[in-house]
Amino acid sequence: MKRLILSLVALVALSAAALKAQTITSPDGNLSFTFSLNEGVPTYSVDYKGAPVILPSRLGFDLNGTSDLLDGFTAGEAVKSSFDETWTPVWGEETSIRNHYNELLVQLTQTFSNRKMNIRVRLYNDGYGLRYEFPRQRSLKYFTVAEERTEFALTGDHNAFWMPGDYDTQEYDYFESKLSEMGAIAAAHVSTNSSTTRFSDWGVQTALTMKSAEGIYITLHEAALVDYSCMHLLYNPETLTFTSWLTPDAIGNKAYLQTPAKTPWRTAVITDDARELLASRLTLNLNEPCAIEDTSWIKPVKYMGVWWELITGKTNWSYAAEGNIKLAEVDYADLKPHNRHGANNENVKRYIDFASRYGFDQLLVEGWNVGWEDWFGQHKDYVFDFVTPYPDFNLPELQKYANERGMRLMMHHETSSSVRNYERHLDKAYQFMVDNGYNSVKSGYVGNIFPRGEYHYGQLMNNHYLYAIQKAAEYKIMVNAHEAVRPTGLCRTWPNLIGNESARGTEYQSFGGTHPHHVTILPFTRLQGGPMDYTPGIFRMDLTDIPGNNSKVLSTLANQLALYVTLYSPLQMAADMPENYERYIDAFQFIVDVPVEWSESRYLMAEPGDYVVIARKDKNSENWFVGGVTDENRRTLSLSFDFLPAGKEYVATIYADAKDADYETNPEAYRIVEGKVNGKSVAQIAMARGGGFAISIREATPADKKIKRLKKNF
Ligand code: NOJ
Ligand code: CA
Repeated sequence: MKRLILSLVALVALSAAALKAQTITSPDGNLSFTFSLNEGVPTYSVDYKGAPVILPSRLGFDLNGTSDLLDGFTAGEAVKSSFDETWTPVWGEETSIRNHYNELLVQLTQTFSNRKMNIRVRLYNDGYGLRYEFPRQRSLKYFTVAEERTEFALTGDHNAFWMPGDYDTQEYDYFESKLSEMGAIAAAHVSTNSSTTRFSDWGVQTALTMKSAEGIYITLHEAALVDYSCMHLLYNPETLTFTSWLTPDAIGNKAYLQTPAKTPWRTAVITDDARELLASRLTLNLNEPCAIEDTSWIKPVKYMGVWWELITGKTNWSYAAEGNIKLAEVDYADLKPHNRHGANNENVKRYIDFASRYGFDQLLVEGWNVGWEDWFGQHKDYVFDFVTPYPDFNLPELQKYANERGMRLMMHHETSSSVRNYERHLDKAYQFMVDNGYNSVKSGYVGNIFPRGEYHYGQLMNNHYLYAIQKAAEYKIMVNAHEAVRPTGLCRTWPNLIGNESARGTEYQSFGGTHPHHVTILPFTRLQGGPMDYTPGIFRMDLTDIPGNNSKVLSTLANQLALYVTLYSPLQMAADMPENYERYIDAFQFIVDVPVEWSESRYLMAEPGDYVVIARKDKNSENWFVGGVTDENRRTLSLSFDFLPAGKEYVATIYADAKDADYETNPEAYRIVEGKVNGKSVAQIAMARGGGFAISIREATPADKKIKRLKKNF
């Protein structure tokens, strides 16, 4: 009897497999996604406006210790459905997000092994997400992925905005090149040293953005990276095909799964208008809804920090001059502090005085806790305890000082990637924060991972980052993790994840500089997964008067202001030191005015690697803000204010590059122009090389009578 049922099931499956390929279209009909079994091999392809974008591409897995899940499949029932909802993010670029897709679920069985693997596809107007699901089943309980074999077969040698694949870091400059040129460029220009873990000259990281000769933009990434390894892509220039390449663990395995299980979504945003890449919410939509019931404690944060002076080498994280002090053996009170410890009471108060005068929410203080004498590059299990301040950092007094001025301190946990140590201390460390009035932590994962041999982007570490965020939610703590895996939209589910670094941030302007095109690529790539703690706002570009620093910031001052609008984040820092802001206090006013909560965003002009112009409306007022940045080329653009509601008068304050500004020769030159505008106004705005502009726009009042109309060529 049992036999009979089994063969009947097989018959049904076979007849379903004989059915034609399954196709779904996007709600607007522009995209179509086709799944088929090609002689038992799961295969898909994607068309946009009637032309192929992804050619037939294979799906499947190499497994360890058992037969692979690559072929021999038959298809069971295909289930099609639709979904349309609008949800409210706790914070974001707008106050409501539409999640509208058509779905296809294909149920596959590998006949010879009787193992089941489903493919779920969600097709949106702006792209698709595809993931593998493994139902609970007798014939597949535990399995080890040797490699995932998801292909993206492309239609041509596209232009790409890419960075090298690496299991441990994303702090690279981007390259712009043809896909076929990537290997030679990586071989010639990307260093392979002890701090990089590259796997091939043809390997790249996601989000990867490409532009075809026909003007189609494609961004490949992943969404909802949970209990799995981070995906890189390996390019084959012969077949024009990317194949997934997962981050291994210490013994070379790629992922460990137990059914029921599912992989992250493999995503592509596809459009012929670059602005739609910026407007896409596909990554967020493919994540689960918010898992935190009471989110009232999660608030966007504008902050300053005892930080840039540490990064630039003006002062130090460490309290004592002596090197190699063992935490367990030392009584810090007996040590003589060296005169460059940044996190001392007097200096911290100086920052609080300044930041509170200008309405900042928080002050980050790094180097407040013991351990910095001997923390870097060692494979130690025990580095920091996260609860013991240095003797010259009077925590209760400083927190009180900040509170009395309407601010609070922001916590810093440098884990030195000693993750085992961090997890052991986590509850105590978070409780310590609660007891001392902190509600946000910047965490960091510098150096090699302990447990040894693990990588920053492997399954074990990805589970750790999420664990730290979930635990933080229990304590009502917001997290901004540096050096963690690049975001994949998990902030929808865990909105207390208010920031990540996971790319090259402003700190590199102090380590030799960053190419100006960087900020014109980030919004199309790294920011697709979630906000970045980029730390903009540097006003003093020549750092060579700081002993030991030979760097210059490769950006104009107006470009720095624009970043508060063009690089969306609910967490924004004014990264420079008070004394540098004092020099240009009129320009600093933009940082004071710009909000961190928005109700609406308009992507006005965009081309990856060239320029980005965005307008956003303040969530708590009728004010609008505009930011524009360019790459290393000077550009003049015509800005229409038609995003403003008709019939209303506004006062615009434009912070523009001075006529002779240039990121290399005259980076701090700017001009500020004020004028009346309305929805019909147009202005010609010149951006210097490495430059940009920022505009704050407020409703006009009778008191503004004397302010003149903004001239087109102001
Ligand atoms: C690297 C981080 O990106 C930086 O912001 C931090 O100051 C240092 N690590 C020290 O934790
Ligand atoms: Ca970093």
